[in-house]
Amino acid sequence: LRRLLIDTDTAGDDVTALLVALHSPEATVEAITVVAGNVYLDQCVRNALYTTEMAGKPEVPVHVGAAKPLMRHLVTAHYVHGDDGMGNSNFPEPKRSVTEGHAVDAILDCADRFDGQLEIIGQGPLTNLALAVTKDPSLPSKVKRLIIMGGVNNARGNITPAAEFNFYVDPEAAQIVFRAGFDILLSPWDICLHHGIIYRDEMAPFEALDTELSRFWFSVNQHAWKFLNEIGIDGISLPDAITVALTLDPSLIQQSGTYFVDVETKGEMTAGYSLVDVGGVLGKEPNAEVVEKFDKERFKEILLEVLRG
Ligand code: RIB
Ligand code: CA
Repeated sequence: LRRLLIDTDTAGDDVTALLVALHSPEATVEAITVVAGNVYLDQCVRNALYTTEMAGKPEVPVHVGAAKPLMRHLVTAHYVHGDDGMGNSNFPEPKRSVTEGHAVDAILDCADRFDGQLEIIGQGPLTNLALAVTKDPSLPSKVKRLIIMGGVNNARGNITPAAEFNFYVDPEAAQIVFRAGFDILLSPWDICLHHGIIYRDEMAPFEALDTELSRFWFSVNQHAWKFLNEIGIDGISLPDAITVALTLDPSLIQQSGTYFVDVETKGEMTAGYSLVDVGGVLGKEPNAEVVEKFDKERFKEILLEVLRG
């Protein structure tokens, strides 16, 4: 049985990722820790609580984490995901409440409790993880793997030409995490752009499901779809869901490379830029496996299975 902890800035694609993880029979989500990013922290928390209820797993712990980046003002993505991060679905309040204990302590407690087994998935700004490894520098040695959705591998960013959103929001946290000694698997934005968007002409099987979960999925992603369509991409992008899917089934990874990766924190124009030294020109120890190709067809089958409920 795999033991997962998912750190999330819960909005449309994060929700999809949580549904995939919570549905999996071969993994348990030991805890969900929440960080501000796509929308404000209180809304991210509410979205995570609501998603565990929709997944029929209201007992999964949800811990509140950082309300802002380590050093910078929070930048959100309401323009992508809607005011509530859920496609402006205006769902009712979740019935359940949050779990005692700060997200940072929950990360450290889980790592200690499942020493060597815990796989952490970071699918938002890395503020909670940076705080956790600063509080306990031995964390990387206790964590089986740290899987991160973020950055780009020598490709255009999605919030500035240089940077992907999660690393842009908290570049200092991302740099701390990449330098801390974790065994990292990086699922960057360019992977999502090339293999992780479900386009309008692929939607028929998802529309045909017509289940509570499929209707929920469309609802939480509808605003993001509209936003992408306005910039010429007529589909739903699911970077976080891809990241969870390939964590659960690494055979989805059709190509990857192990490279030295670091994150820019001082650039006026390049803050959050993820340097991926594919040529090894810097002569620095590689610290991350970077996903370069991914089986989209199998991902769609997995997602259909999850949304079938
Ligand atoms: O750049 C994509 C990432 O930023 C995803 O994790 C999305 O949910 C947002 O957090
Ligand atoms: Ca996210």
